[in-house]
Parts: sequence; C-alpha cells; structure tokens
Amino acid sequence: MTSTVAAFHKRSIEDKEGFWAEQAQHIEWFAPPEKILDFSNPPFARWYVGGKTNLCHNAVDRHLATRGDQKALVYISTETKQERIYSYKELHQEVQAMAAILKSLGVKRGDRVLVYMPMIAEAIFAMLACARIGAIHSVVFGGFAAPSLAARIDDATPVVMISADAGMRNGKEVPYKHLVDEACRLAQKPPAKVLLINRGLAAMSRVDGRDVDYTELRKQHLGASVPCEQMLATDPSYILYTSGTTGKPKGVQRDTGGYAVALAASMKHIFDCKPGEVFFCTSDIGWVVGHSYIVYGPLINGSTTIVYEGMPTVPDPAVWWSIVERFQASTMFSSPTAARVLKKQDPKYMTQHNTSCLRRLFLAGEPLDEPTAKWISDALGGARIIDNYWQTETGWPIMSAQHGVEDTPTKFGSPSFAVYGYDLRLYHESTFEEVGADEKGMLCAVPPLPPGCLQTVWGDDERFLKTYFTAIPGKKIYSTFDYATRDQDGYYFILGRTDDVINVAGHRLGTREIEEAIQVHTNVAEVAVVGVADALKGQVPLAFCVLKNLDPIKSAEGRMAEEKAIMATVDKELGAIARPSRVHFVTMLPKTRSGKLLRRSMQALAEGRDSGDLTTLEDPTALEQIKSALKS
Ligand code: PRX
Repeated sequence: MTSTVAAFHKRSIEDKEGFWAEQAQHIEWFAPPEKILDFSNPPFARWYVGGKTNLCHNAVDRHLATRGDQKALVYISTETKQERIYSYKELHQEVQAMAAILKSLGVKRGDRVLVYMPMIAEAIFAMLACARIGAIHSVVFGGFAAPSLAARIDDATPVVMISADAGMRNGKEVPYKHLVDEACRLAQKPPAKVLLINRGLAAMSRVDGRDVDYTELRKQHLGASVPCEQMLATDPSYILYTSGTTGKPKGVQRDTGGYAVALAASMKHIFDCKPGEVFFCTSDIGWVVGHSYIVYGPLINGSTTIVYEGMPTVPDPAVWWSIVERFQASTMFSSPTAARVLKKQDPKYMTQHNTSCLRRLFLAGEPLDEPTAKWISDALGGARIIDNYWQTETGWPIMSAQHGVEDTPTKFGSPSFAVYGYDLRLYHESTFEEVGADEKGMLCAVPPLPPGCLQTVWGDDERFLKTYFTAIPGKKIYSTFDYATRDQDGYYFILGRTDDVINVAGHRLGTREIEEAIQVHTNVAEVAVVGVADALKGQVPLAFCVLKNLDPIKSAEGRMAEEKAIMATVDKELGAIARPSRVHFVTMLPKTRSGKLLRRSMQALAEGRDSGDLTTLEDPTALEQIKSALKS
C-alpha cells in the first residue's frame, strides 16, 4: 500500500476520535458532539454522542443558500417516458409537503414509516421527509411479495406505509396495491394509514379510513413550512432489512450523525465527486446502495443525483451513456451484472455518446470478473473502473480505491485496500489465527466499526451480538461472512460468502429464505437451495426438492408443471427475484450422519466440480440422485 492512503488509514485506526472529529466538519450540526466516540459497551459504538443534526437538513436545507437553483434531483423514467428535474429549492418544497402530509397522518418523531415504492421521485421525497421529522423509514424493495412485506411490517411496526399503484418493468405495469392490501391483511400489526401515489398505471381499490391519496393531500400541503427536527446523532434514521443465514431477515439499524458524516466523507475521499457535479447511481432505493448513493450521499455533498426508473437496455443499450452525456455525469455507480448485460449488446452502443465527462464508474455488490472489468474499461475509454466492496450492514465502502486521498493504481479482481475507519483482519477458518499474505481467511473487522455502520439489529441487540460478533471464539470481532485474501501490496480479493447467503445479480438472498418459501408449497417434503455460478447474474438459486406425493412428477409434463408451481410459490412468497432457475426432484437429499445438508457438495456438482470431502456423507445414493437430476 502506498504512503498517503496508508497513512490516512493508519491515522483513522490509531487516532479514531481525532480522525472522525475532523470528518465531522463535512456536515452541519445544530449542536456539536460532546464526545466523538462512546465505546464503553463494546461492540456497540456510539458516534458523535450529544451532537444534534438532521440528514434532511444536510441533504437539502443546507444547500439552499448556495445552490438553491442547482439541479438536486433529475428523475428519468424510460418506462413512463417521463423526466422531471427538481432544483434544491423545489426539492425542499416537495419534501416539506410530504413531511406535512406525514405529520397530518399522525407520524411523530421516532415512529416508523414503511416505504414500498417503485423508483419515482416521490419515494425520495418520502425518505427525506421521514428524516426531516425524525421518523424512521424502512424502505422495502418493490420486488418483494406480500408475505415478505408483511414480515417487515410486523418487525418495524410502521404507523404509515407509503406506496403507489404500480411500478413498471420493461414496458409492463407491475401492480403494487394488491400486494399492499394482502400484506396488511397478513400482518399482525398493519399500519393505520396507507398513503398512495397514483401514477395512473393500474386501478386501485380504496380501503376506507386507511387509504389516503397523495395528490389530494399534496395540494393541501404544498407551501407548508416544516422545520427539521434536531435529532441526536445516535438516534436511528432508518431500518433496512437484509438476508442472512436464518430465514428471518434482519433489520439493519442505522444512526443519524455517524451516517451523515460517513457519507459526506466518502463522497470526498472515495468517490472524489465535487459539490455541483452529477452523480448517477443505477441501483434501486430498496437496496443499501440506493439509500447511500442515490439519496443521501450525493445530496449531502451538494451534487445532482440522477434517479433512473428503467432497464439498462431500453429504449436501447446506449440509454445510460446518453444520460451521462446529457447531464454531464462525472461519477457513476452500478453493478457488475449490469455491466455484463451491456457487454452482451452490440458494442456500437458504447461509442454513440461522448462520455468523456465520466471520470469513474464504481461497481459493487458482487464479484467483478476480470473480463467484464476489462471490457467496460476499454469500452468507456477514459473512465476508471473502481471495484468497491461493502455490505448493507456497513452502509458505505469497506474496501475501495480512495482517489480523493491518493491516486493509486487498481488491480483487476480486487476492490483495492481497506477504507479508512475499517480495521480489517483475515482469520483462518479453523485455527482462528490471522493468515499471511495471499492466504485465504475469514474477513473480519475489529470494533468499533466506523461511523455509518449498523448500530444494532432493530429491536434485537442479542441478535446483533450473536450474528456478527461470535465467528472468532473469544474475540468480539465483526464478521463480514466473506472469505478474502490480501496480497503483498495490501490489495484484497473477495472469495465469496462463508454462510448460506447467495448473490443473484448483486441482490443478496438467503438460501434458507428461499427454502422456507418453497416449503409453503403443500407437496414439498424437503428442499435444499444452493447458489450456482451463472455467467450473467453471478449466481442463481437452484432447488433440489423431495416431494410428499410423487404422482405429479411421474411424467415429463407433470415434472414441468410441478416445477412451475414451485417457482410460482416462490414468486408469491418472496418475489420473483428469488425464483430458482431450476427445480430438480429427488427422493432424498445428501446429508451428513448428523443430519446437516451437504450444500457445498450439491453446489460443486451443479457447477461441474468435484463434490469434495464426503467422509461424513450418510447415504451415497443421495449424491448419485443429485448427479442424475443435474444431467436431466
Ligand atoms: O459477499 C459480499 C458481496 O455482497 C455482500 C453484501 O451484499 P449487500 O448487503 O447487498 O450490500 C451490497 C453493498 C454494495 C458482501 O458480503 N459483495 C459486495 N461487494 C462486493 C462483493 N463481493 C465481491 N466484490 C465486491 N466488490
């Protein structure tokens, strides 16, 4: 590692309070912190104790005096062929109207608001409005089905849910309202009010006394003045659910002050994006990348954020580059899967637009394979490709090149170095000793985790401790659940998860969650889901099922029908993003003598590799069945 980045990192670890006191200058405070870090109850870290601030103030109000007429948010939908541009002044108005609406619906400081929305500007108004009045938002990705939504409702217990009639995907409406109704029916503690944005895409029935219309209320509240609540830095700002080993998703709880500082600092040091420049992140607000780098990061930085609803290939595969050229984006953030989708198109689309304004394209969420990295780097001419590694839990990069600190070379296949604030270690998975250069280890971070990382699991401190801080016996060290190596120069390489989480097109899914969804199908006795390498999506889920009644699969048509029925069950329970690519039928699953599923062996066979160590396998015929199912 070269000197400046190394020195920056070293200081962030050795003088945490000094370092983060300096970074705190990048945001505005109503009251300065009394203490930079309270780590009296490890591993719980409380950053900027006593400080008062507000995410919405920093993202919007703070810029009014200097950049009120600058574009704050550019909304582009190639699905509805709409484009709307909001200056910081206009954004301020819209957010205040939304805040006034939420208040009129009874939302108070500390209450939860669930946002289940497509990629529309109103979703961002909703998030910022929550932050403004001190409500805790929980954004649920629009692709999740009613039972998943209901589970999140019961965990977060929102007072209000905000939704819309429909999303759009590839020219087709994806209705939301019936899922909202179904989720409210399934939930034990449904929200009292549902605020609905009617885009005119799908018919909506109305539940009297519960459903309210955004357009009507906006008319009443536009022009309202709603001040920002003075939040404590340690007050929670949002909950975002993510998958882990167990079936039940975890509510990652984020603070206010630490998150604001972490994002502001990252825009400067990692993304090197200047205030006034244009930041284009192609993620969705339902994911952590959308929270941090569509909404809060660019706006806190005084940049222009582009909010895009649509496919990367419609109306043609040059659509993103046309946006980059038209709005002169300097910084882009996307996923390796999106890059692989573009790689499959006619190369002429990559050169139709002048993208010389684009300095860097950041890619994250899943491994960036070398051919894709090389291809997009060449295709984009000048722009640098920056692989960066992080998690929903951390909210901002753990590893990345940090060009705002120093211009370091990147290596293909590596997200470069540990970012300042992260004290990373690699532990051998059975000896728990730290490993040497180029040796594989479990990637961990010594607490306190830096500002912006999860405070706890919503409503479950015990789960926070048990899940994240027990991988290395005797040490309360944060586990990322990823394997990695570090080379002689300090560059890291990520090798995949240590747990049952799979990564489908950059979307994190728990294999147990998918198994539980499949088990809802009444004819399923037992099921195993594994993630299998896929050239486009990185990984896809594959299911092996044992049925109770074998009659439906006695013919090829019967097998196909049962496979379809199981896939439909997953769509209905979890959402189509979790649908297995194939469902294979077997009469028994390979297990160890103690009854544990041999997932790694099934995965290896599905990827055409050797099944590995089978000394503990109970019945070898189970693996033979997997092999022949895969051949079919
Ligand atoms: O396994 C790692 C993988 O995605 C996981 C986190 O996913 P999620 O919580 O959805 O957050 C995504 C934020 C960008 C990690 O544990 N992952 C993320 N980035 C990379 C990666 N794997 C390899 N290379 C990356 N750059």
